[in-house]
Amino acid sequence: MSELTAQSAAPPTKLIIDTDPGIDDALAICLALGDPKADVLALTTVFGNSPDVRIMSDNAQKVLNIAKRSTVPIREGAATPLVTSSSRASYISECMKAQSVMIHGSDGLGDVQPSLPGKWTPCDESAAECIVRLARAHPGEVTLVMLGPLTNLALALMICSNLTELLKQVVVMGGALFSPRGNEINTPDSNRGNVTSSAEANIYKDPFSARKVIKAGFEPDRLVFVTLDLTTQTNYECSQIRDMLAAAGPLGRFLGSAHEHYVDVYVNRFGRGKVPFHDSCAVFYALSGGSFTTSDVSMDIETRGELCFGMTVVDGRAPALRGPANVRVCTGIVVDDLYGSIQRSVNALNNA
Ligand code: BDR
Ligand code: CA
Repeated sequence: MSELTAQSAAPPTKLIIDTDPGIDDALAICLALGDPKADVLALTTVFGNSPDVRIMSDNAQKVLNIAKRSTVPIREGAATPLVTSSSRASYISECMKAQSVMIHGSDGLGDVQPSLPGKWTPCDESAAECIVRLARAHPGEVTLVMLGPLTNLALALMICSNLTELLKQVVVMGGALFSPRGNEINTPDSNRGNVTSSAEANIYKDPFSARKVIKAGFEPDRLVFVTLDLTTQTNYECSQIRDMLAAAGPLGRFLGSAHEHYVDVYVNRFGRGKVPFHDSCAVFYALSGGSFTTSDVSMDIETRGELCFGMTVVDGRAPALRGPANVRVCTGIVVDDLYGSIQRSVNALNNA
C-alpha cells in the first residue's frame, strides 16, 4: 500500500479541546474542526481569558456556530483555579481582567461588530466528567488539547485514578522555558513569560493544577508542552492572516477582524513587530506532530514564589543530577506547514 493510501486510511484523531476562548483559541478550534485528520468529540471550557467561565462557554458556542459545527458538545468547567489563597485569587483575577480586556477585547473575541450570536445551553455534566467519560469510552484513543489553565484536567485526574492510562496524549499550550531572545534584554520579546516576567498566562492562572498534571505519571511522549519558546517562532503580520482568510466568507471575516484587534495590541501596546499563534500550535502538534522537533526534559512548576509564581522550571543539569524526563517540549516547527493547515481548515469549514 502506498504511503498516501495508508495515510488517508488512518482514522481521524479523537480530540477534546479544553479552551478559554479567546481570539487565538477561536482560531485553534477552527483549525481542528476543519481538518479531516481530527474528530472533535467535545469542547470543554475553563476560566482564563475571562475570569467568568460562562463568557468562555458562550464564546465556545459562538465559534461553533459561525464554523457551522454547533452540534459539537460543550461542557463547562472550572470557574476558578484549583487552589489559591485569597490574596493570590484577587491578584490573579485582576490580572486576568486587565489582560483579557486588553488582548482579547471586552467580549473575549476581539469586540468584532456586530458581535457573534450564541449562548451556551447549561448541562449537568462538568468538563472534568466529560473528559473522563470520553476517555473511558475510547481507551487509548483520545488526545486532550489544553488551551487554557489546566484545572479541568487536574480535576479529571482526581475523579479517575487511571486517566493517565486511558488518554492517548495530552498536548498543553503553556509555559516558557527560555527568553526567546537569548541574552538580549529590554526588547519586547526578552521576557521568559508573558503575563509576568517569569510566567506564561495559562500556567500562571493555575500553577497547582499544572504541577498536578506534570506529576501525574504520563510518559513524556504522552504529555507534550507547546511553550512560548515555540509559539513565538510562528509570528505573523496582520496582512498575512487577512490574506490567508480572505476567501473564507463570514468565518474568515470574523477571524480576520478579531485578529486585527489582537495584532493591534501586540504591536501598539507591546511593541512587537508580529504576533504568535499560541493555541493553534498545540492543536497542530496533536494532528501533525511530524512538523515539529521536540526534546524530553525534566520540568517542574513554581507554586509558591512571589516573583516566579507559575514559572515552568526545566532542570538542565547533568543527567546524574536531574530527575527523569517527565514532559516533551516542542523546540521547532515548520511554520509554513502551520499556515497552510490553518488556511485549509478555515476554508474547508466555510465551504462545508
Ligand atoms: C495563552 O494565554 C492566552 O491568552 C492565550 O489564549 C493562550 O492560550 C498564551 O500565553
Ligand atoms: Ca487560550
